[in-house]
This record gives sequence, structure tokens and C-alpha cells, in this order.
Amino acid sequence: MNKYSFDEIVAHLRNTGYVYQGSEIYGGLSNSWDFGVLGSFLKKNIKDLWWREFIERSPYNVGIDSAILMNPKTWEATGHLKGFSDSMVDCKECKSRFRADQLIEEATGLSADGKSPEEMDAMIAEHKIVCPKCGKHNFTSARPFNLMFKTYIGTLEDAKSVVYLRPETAQGIFVNFNNVLRTSRKKLPFGIGQIGKSFRNEITPGNFIFRVREFEQMELEFFCRPGEDLSWYQYWVSTCFGFILRMGVKEENLRIRPHSKEELSFYSTATSDIEYAFPFTDWGEVWGIADRTDYDLKRHMEYSKEKLLYRDPTSGETFVPYCIEPSVGVERLFLMLVCDAYDKESLDNGEERIVMHLHPALAPVKACVCPLVKKLSEPARALFEDLINDFHCEFDEAGTVGKRYRRNDAIGTPFCITYDFESLEDNCVTVRHRDSMKQERVAIAELKDYLKKRLEF
Ligand code: GAP
Repeated sequence: MNKYSFDEIVAHLRNTGYVYQGSEIYGGLSNSWDFGVLGSFLKKNIKDLWWREFIERSPYNVGIDSAILMNPKTWEATGHLKGFSDSMVDCKECKSRFRADQLIEEATGLSADGKSPEEMDAMIAEHKIVCPKCGKHNFTSARPFNLMFKTYIGTLEDAKSVVYLRPETAQGIFVNFNNVLRTSRKKLPFGIGQIGKSFRNEITPGNFIFRVREFEQMELEFFCRPGEDLSWYQYWVSTCFGFILRMGVKEENLRIRPHSKEELSFYSTATSDIEYAFPFTDWGEVWGIADRTDYDLKRHMEYSKEKLLYRDPTSGETFVPYCIEPSVGVERLFLMLVCDAYDKESLDNGEERIVMHLHPALAPVKACVCPLVKKLSEPARALFEDLINDFHCEFDEAGTVGKRYRRNDAIGTPFCITYDFESLEDNCVTVRHRDSMKQERVAIAELKDYLKKRLEF
């Protein structure tokens, strides 16, 4: 379990340039965050790894990049227009607003998942739940609140021009099912993945970047024959779990939680969440893997009147494939990775160092080139300028070498490369490792290969 408080980790991320408050100079915008000089790299590295492992290196999958604004009929077909809502209640005394299920769960420990607004009202009354802000028991009735952001397309703001910011990237995949079949010549089983922004007008965003209104999803819709779906579902649960382990997250901080029968969506035969022991809660969802059967394709067939079918090339049999969906938020992976990597260690000299043990493939800065003294800046800079053709590196000549090491430990740089007087003679540099703090001498001619090997995923 995590040793450090969430506030401490968040303060570190904000101080070091991983994350900034959104619109800060205007006093911010509630629960909006910008990814900074380091955070933008970490986010990009996460997305690049997912794309490489789930699309490029997969024998099954292809990728697309669909539009955020979609024909609103899409959301009629999926049920989002009617049913993508959370129930909210307001405290009549202090005017605070809550998600009814969260209010109930936090006060009683009972799950209100899937309950109707009326059932939630009854639970609030039965348990005499009080407002966490003012302590009074005086709530409005629970009422549904649609989470989709609405906007208008074109110059007229009327009912005909309403469109929605997509609340998930998945539907951009389902509506392109025929296009992908036609242009990729894929045969079952195969998957279509994409990375993109999604938007949800969450009633209670929070816990830093854990629940936000604008986030990025990496979703895969994996199509297979009915009857083979449950074994593919198991395959994707273990593939996603294995991917997180490969990113270096400690196994004891992870669990796979299968949904109970009551929790399952009506169209799903199996769903599991991969959860992480975040410092602000017992367990928080990171990745959801669902067997969605043929629900989505069938709904789009019904609403679009287009046939979204697969024709078996050998038997000629035509059917609607089943679909397994592993869906993950980039911000959730980001938050899990930094919570897991953050550490404080006491050194032999009595000092304390903050270190982010990020997997080298994910680290924003791969190496920092440090001339021992300013006199050596010129050859050290030439080395740095050569290395940046291959890796994202930094050059640091300010302060003692020890201080430079500490600065780089704190942002997760896996290697510091010190150029000293001997380097002028032997054409070698000292490579200092972030995690072990061990140092070794490496020939400059071999340095790129040396780093490449250690930065592999
Ligand atoms: N297409 C299925 C789908 O969107 P979901 O469980 O609503 O399922 C999938 O979302 C993943 O997206 C979650 O496991 C989480 O990682 C991420 N996610 C969902 N809502 C989020 C939010 N408000 N802020 C950040 N990430 C979110």
C-alpha cells in the first residue's frame, strides 16, 4: 500500500512541472488541470506505449482516429441521451451538491449502484444521512443529471443544431465497423483501437486528475465470434494487467475485481475492473474490461438501418460479432504511475532524497548531461546535442553534481551522465543510475547503445 499522503504527491507533481492548475492566471477553472513540461512527456510516453503494444505490435488490431463531434443519433442508439446520467441531490441548507450514490456509500458503506432516484431517496431517508458539509439532514429529491456536454454546430443555436462532445471514444469505433472491414481486410478475431479526448460533465469531479471533465481514453473494441467471447475476455484482462505490471507498478497495489451480477450492465456477460490502491481511497478503477456481446453493433444497426455484419470468408455465414472492450483513461494510468513511483529515501550522509522510480521507457527525461565543472561545458554540450537526436535529454551545469543528481531523481530521470576531466583523455563518461545510485564508466562511442538497451519497454 502507498506510504505517502496524496497531498504530498500532488504537491510534488505541481512543484516539479508535471501538472499545473488549469487557467491558473485567471484563478483557475474548477477541476481543470494542464499537463506541464514533464507531464506532457509522461502522458505522451503512456500513449505511445499503449499504441505500440495494443495496435502496432498486435497481430490482431488496427487503429483509427475518429471525430469528437458525432451525429447525435449515435447517442440515441447507445442510450447515452436517455440514460447516461448520475443522480444528484442538493443540500437545502448549505446548497452543496452531491452525487447521490457517493453520498450514500460514504455515509453507510452500502452500494447504491444501479438504484433509481426514488430508491436512493429512500436510502437517504432510512439512514438519516446528513450533509457532509453542514451536518443537516435536508436534501432535495434525487434527480438524474445527463453527463454529456451539449453544444451547437453552425450558426444557429436551435434544437436541430445540437451536438454533444463524445463521452467515450468507443462509439467512433463501432460506427466505423464497416469502413475498417472494407479498408483493412481484417478477419475475425480483430480489434479496432483509438486514443482520444472524451468529455463528461461529472457532478463530483475530484481527487486531482482521477475524475475530471475532460480526459483521454485509450479504448479497444475487439470483435470475435459469439461463443469465443469469454476466452477473449480473459485474454484481454490478463493482457491489460500484464501491461500495467510491465510499466513497473507494484503488484501488491493492484487487483482485478470482477463485477457482481447486480453490478453488470444488462448487455454484458462479464466485466472486470483493474483497480489500484490510490492513497485517497481503498481501491480506484483504472481499467475496465467488458464483454459487451453484440449490443453496440446491433443498436447501431437498428438506428442507422445499416448492416454491421461479418461474413465468414470460408463458410459464407453472416452474423453480428461479439465485442470485448478494454477501456482505460490516460489520466488514471498517469496518476497510478506517479503514485506508485514516488518515494523518499534516507541516504548514508543523513540527507533525504525524493525519487520517482518511473520505468525508464516512461520517464519524461531519459538522461541529464552534467559537466563536472563549467570549464567542461563545451564538450559536454556537444555530447548532449548529439544525444538529443535519439532521446529526450537535458543539460544541467548549475550547482554541485550532487544537487543535479537530486533534482533529476526527483523528476524520475533514470540516468545522469557526468563529463569530467578524465573524459577529455579516455573518451568515457560516468553514468549514474537513479534507482541504485551506482556509477559506471561508459565509452562515449557506446553510450547511445548502452542507453537504448536500458530504455527499452
Ligand atoms: N467505453 C466504456 C467506457 O467509457 P468507463 O468505465 O465509463 O467505460 C473507461 O470509462 C475508463 O475511462 C475508466 O476506467 C477510467 O480509466 C476512464 N475514465 C472514465 N471517466 C473518467 C473521468 N471522469 N476522468 C478520468 N478518467 C475517466
